[in-house]
Amino acid sequence: MGKHIQKKMLITGGAGFIGSHTVRRFVRSYPQYHIYNLDALTYAGNLENLKDIEGVSNYSFVKGDITDTRFISKLFATINFDGVIHLAAESHVDRSITDPLSFVKTNIFGTVNLLNASLDLIKHNKDFVFYHISTDEVYGTLGETGLFAETTPYCPNSPYSASKAGADHFVRAYGETYGLPYVISNCSNNYGPNQFPEKLIPLFINNIVNNKPLPVYGDGNYTRDWLYVKDHAVAIDLVFHEGRKGETYNIGGFNEWKNIELVKLLCGLMDKKLGRNKGTAEKLITFTKNRPGHDLRYAIDASKINRELGWKPSVTFEQGLEKTIDWYLENQEWLSNVTTGGYREYYSKQYHQLGK
Ligand code: NAD
Ligand code: TYD
Repeated sequence: MGKHIQKKMLITGGAGFIGSHTVRRFVRSYPQYHIYNLDALTYAGNLENLKDIEGVSNYSFVKGDITDTRFISKLFATINFDGVIHLAAESHVDRSITDPLSFVKTNIFGTVNLLNASLDLIKHNKDFVFYHISTDEVYGTLGETGLFAETTPYCPNSPYSASKAGADHFVRAYGETYGLPYVISNCSNNYGPNQFPEKLIPLFINNIVNNKPLPVYGDGNYTRDWLYVKDHAVAIDLVFHEGRKGETYNIGGFNEWKNIELVKLLCGLMDKKLGRNKGTAEKLITFTKNRPGHDLRYAIDASKINRELGWKPSVTFEQGLEKTIDWYLENQEWLSNVTTGGYREYYSKQYHQLGK
């Protein structure tokens, strides 16, 4: 590694959806940093997401599991990271309902492993920062009105959000107890290229292409606040560099959609893109049994990050959704690669267990 390297950065979960956009942004924007992408390559991690930066001189991929304590402490003893951006996680709510323990293991135990290893680094490096990428789901659910602020009490309702809340609490506790410099951000639902097709938007794009049913949970009157993934990566860059230590930043698109309205918008756009008659995709909508513990509404008040760091989303939902659809239509091979093998098997089992 050249002498000019200013920072050695660890990004965990960089082969996943948000992680890959974050790794690319850091590798491209900061040639003076060396970016280490640590990922276990679970069903959700895919190095195809980062094909374009393979071999770039300030980037290295490290295959490894954040729950492996010995491996993590050895890695941190070998490379004195100047900063950690921690995204590796089990991320899908439906999977957390059928297999909560793997969420406890990766999201809580894995995070604490990284925190322990980080404590050794702060002894010699006063500029070290641990940045935890978290979710707005830790706040629980909103009613028809109101927004999540950074001061909203935690009230997680799913095993996924409980595990992310637990991780957030540990990060804060390490700040208070051991003086670990940290920052946390809690973001709303992301969408965009490279999202694994188990989440609503890519799943439905894929199903529309293949004329498969679109399983809308319950009556579809559940609200999410959608943010284009590249805007999240910009926010992560800003929070890492300029966020005040020991603080939390909420990140969101000011872009609330009821699921059923979003699905109808998506159906209309897909009919146009695929040259099908208007109304074709909507016929695939199938109302299914509700997700247990389904949060009614998420909506983020992102005024703190806007005020303090000048961040706001750069694309409208219509623009972002169109870019996303185009990407999936142009990357059918990526889709078929990530949806074959173990994933399919898991999904059919889960589908059965939820009784959908
Ligand atoms: P993802 O499921 O697409 O990617 C997760 C990545 O972590 C994968 O590459 C996977 O291989 C890796 N990973 C999983 N377990 C690991 C382990 N034990 N060791 C090392 N690597 C492991 O997830 P995503 O949607 O990109 O989410 C990234 C982060 O952002 C997560 O922490 C998630 O909680 C958070 N987040 C996601 C959203 C969203 O809408 N997707 C919103 C807010 C916050
Ligand atoms: P999802 O993409 O799983 O994100 P999250 O649960 O983290 O918000 O789901 C987004 C919304 O869409 C959520 O209200 C659940 C709903 N949903 C469906 O109606 N059908 C589906 O097949 C999926 C995956 C989600």
